[in-house]
Amino acid sequence: MATVTILPSGLTVQVGEWDHLLRAAHDQGLRWPNMCGGGGTCRKCVLSVLEGADHASQPTSFELQGLASIAHKLEGEPKPVRLACMLRTKGDMVVKKDGVALAPED
Ligand code: FES
Repeated sequence: MATVTILPSGLTVQVGEWDHLLRAAHDQGLRWPNMCGGGGTCRKCVLSVLEGADHASQPTSFELQGLASIAHKLEGEPKPVRLACMLRTKGDMVVKKDGVALAPED
């Protein structure tokens, strides 16, 4: 189990070895910006890795294509960038993602 700390909120997510970050965040009551529910097509879940990039899974060609399509929007953002719905990790990480918050209670 790895801990992913999300800045600037300071919220944390526990991510199992086979979990994707987005799914783990939702399962733990966080709202992570996205529009496709984890399908890898909206690219709204994109994040910057600040620490622990060496723990992350290798991006698939599908993820790399998606990131390339929004590269112009990511100028000036810390690198590497990843899609939260595609990212797995084997160790602790610190990432930057605006808009992550506790989901409202039902
Ligand atoms: S949730 Fe849509 S691309 Fe990741």
